Amino acid sequence: MTIDQSRGHLDDEVQRQLLGLVEHDPSTDQFPVVGWDAIVWIVGNATQAASYYRTVYGMELEAYSGPETGNRDHRAFVLRSGGVRFVLCGGVDSGSPLLDHHRRHGDGVSDISLEVIDVDRCVAHARRHGATILEEPHDLTDEHGTVRIASIATYGDTRHTLVDRSDYAGPYLPGYVSRTMPSGTGPQVFQALDHVVGNVELGRMDEWVDFYHRVMGFTDLAEFVGSDIATEYSALMSKVVSNGDHRIKIPLNEPARGRKRSQIDEFLDFYCGPGSQHLALATSDILTAVDRLTAAGVEFLPTPASYYEDPELRARIGEVRVPIADLQRRGVLVDRDEDGYLLQIFTKPIGDRPTVFFELIERHGSLGFGKGNFQALFLAIEREQARRGNL
Ligand SMILES: [Fe+2]
Repeated sequence: MTIDQSRGHLDDEVQRQLLGLVEHDPSTDQFPVVGWDAIVWIVGNATQAASYYRTVYGMELEAYSGPETGNRDHRAFVLRSGGVRFVLCGGVDSGSPLLDHHRRHGDGVSDISLEVIDVDRCVAHARRHGATILEEPHDLTDEHGTVRIASIATYGDTRHTLVDRSDYAGPYLPGYVSRTMPSGTGPQVFQALDHVVGNVELGRMDEWVDFYHRVMGFTDLAEFVGSDIATEYSALMSKVVSNGDHRIKIPLNEPARGRKRSQIDEFLDFYCGPGSQHLALATSDILTAVDRLTAAGVEFLPTPASYYEDPELRARIGEVRVPIADLQRRGVLVDRDEDGYLLQIFTKPIGDRPTVFFELIERHGSLGFGKGNFQALFLAIEREQARRGNL
């Protein structure tokens, strides 16, 4: 794997494999997106969360903002792994709006920030198509250059900040200073961000799908999960929207009526509304990633033994790059479509509330999201939900 560690960027071929990218000419896009810019989290203790992501997930600290740099409202730590940037923010001033956000939602993603080619053009397009503009385009400047930036609203209290950093050479944004600390665990656990899933209100999935069509010119990816799947268990409906080259993939879930209370309902209750449910972290070696995270105390959803032993399921798995016993020992799931297969596994919720969690994903040609695993996954998630008394 070729990774330019100095910039944290991945070469095109590596990204194509990791993320299942397709060819696309962005010159015709009304809302041309370059890629994810950052995932901004609001957490209860950014100081400790930064240490967690560095020592457990192998991210490197790159930049910082806080009282020492003139930001008296909050501390913010910028961490990177491969092409992924996390910004962890925690309120310092008791009047900080971040603390209100945290009181309501707990730890979660407040901003799925996107790097775009032309902020003004994107905002004009978004406005014409009914988006709520939270911050008009403006410049932020320091000795490293200028960033053009704006924000639009998406589901719940979540926003998309739009960033053009083509004239900027600083570590993150003006207002941040370079502060570096290497990963606490050696090599990277993950190299790229594959998709970010939004849980939205009952009956509003199509509305949000339409939002991404209208406002960003995204199109549907083939995978669609209807309530016909897993109606025996708590159910969901899911559609996936994506930009032209599939770098930005946003599945949207809504709860569906099942015999039991849906996992999406549980999220909406504890997050107090729509929000980002899981982030899929792309890795080139899911087995090593799982081993390292497990050794560091990360808990994954267990997969029933029947998933590997049932002849029908085993036939569906087919041939993969490692013996099935290696997958079973770690609970790694396999899904397959006409383009290839993928390996995936899901963590338990990463904070105190049963809300946001991570997926690790290793793609081998498949452009899907693991639809075939939904049923097997539901069983595992619901056992956990029952143990919390929320089923
Ligand atoms: Fe996923």
